Amino acid sequence: MKDFKVSTLLIWLSLLSALLCAGALTVYQVSWGGGFDLAAVLILFFAFFIITFFVLYFIYNPFVFDKVKLVNEELKKVIPQKEIPDTNFSLDEIDPITQLENEVKKIAQERQKELEHLKNLDSYRKEYLGNVSHELKTPVFNIQGYVSTLIDGGLSDPTINLDYLKRADKSIERIIHIIDDLETITQLETGSLEPEYEKYDIIAQIKDIIEQLDMVARKKNISVTLTKKSDKPLYVLADKFRIRQVFVNLITNSVKYGRDGGKTEIGLSQYDDEVIVEIKDNGIGISEEHLPRLFERFYRVDKGRSREQGGTGLGLAIVKHIIEAHQKTIGVKSKVGEGTIFTFTLNRSI
Ligand SMILES: Nc1ncnc2c1ncn2[C@@H]1O[C@H](COP(=O)(O)OP(=O)(O)OP(=O)(O)O)[C@@H](O)[C@H]1O
Ligand SMILES: [Mg+2]
Repeated sequence: MKDFKVSTLLIWLSLLSALLCAGALTVYQVSWGGGFDLAAVLILFFAFFIITFFVLYFIYNPFVFDKVKLVNEELKKVIPQKEIPDTNFSLDEIDPITQLENEVKKIAQERQKELEHLKNLDSYRKEYLGNVSHELKTPVFNIQGYVSTLIDGGLSDPTINLDYLKRADKSIERIIHIIDDLETITQLETGSLEPEYEKYDIIAQIKDIIEQLDMVARKKNISVTLTKKSDKPLYVLADKFRIRQVFVNLITNSVKYGRDGGKTEIGLSQYDDEVIVEIKDNGIGISEEHLPRLFERFYRVDKGRSREQGGTGLGLAIVKHIIEAHQKTIGVKSKVGEGTIFTFTLNRSI
């Protein structure tokens, strides 16, 4: 309903009452009074208009304003943080009932939104806990199995004792990896991890990471190369440690999900004051239906294959958070059997 002022409401009600009275007098005069007296009708009309107006004016104050004020006070108690406007008794004010109605509608809409947000959080929390316990279960059960076998006599069996200890150690490493990732993701999601910006040479950083991942890539005969040949440094303004995590995850993924003898190329280009980074592989690729969910936590295209490779599906979620914390975006293009390209930007520094 359209907002209207108190004065408009009172005028309309008074007019209605005056019209009814003038109409009744006219009908009376024409039917029984023996003639129509316009002056009497007009006087009655104006008199009734003024009387009704003042009567309503004095009724409105205690019966409507005071009650609306009380409701407002109650609303303020329930929603203390909300600014509920004080209604003053004035003819110039918007009708307080309409004001209250608008206010209550607004509050109801906000509550609905909050409720939906809480529902989403709740289902996210359930899903998150389910995923975490599922991921931790496998290594914990493995450790339990190896330790039980060792306790039940395996310790004195030289054919298995060292091997089982090593396997248990691997499972512990996996638990630590999951916990580290969870910690990073929690810090990133709660916003407690602001990027520590610094100016550094991204070319030197990439070369260093390629060197470090050389052994992993070699195992699958995958060549990892930086396509930019220039030896001149290319400076960016970013969190060096976090961007390193981004590269390590994306390059490791390109190797993990790459084909034997394949290649990973890291491309750098400049556009305005940004550096565009591309990490391209010719690996197994990802089919289109998986792409929209790829950056979700715990999302894996081929769960079996990923877990086999020691993956938890948290890597890309961390990557996305880091890039977004830098106020940038990351994109992915992929074709099954042809390969995958991840692209993101960073701010260039001079
Ligand atoms: N370059 C790629 N080629 C093909 N598939 C990929 C590629 N990168 C990621 N994926 C798919 O996306 C999924 C999610 O990747 P993500 O890095 O988040 O997890 P992960 O590698 O399985 O585990 P983590 O990185 O936590 O150790 C992977 O399981 C894999 O199925
Ligand atoms: Mg990964």
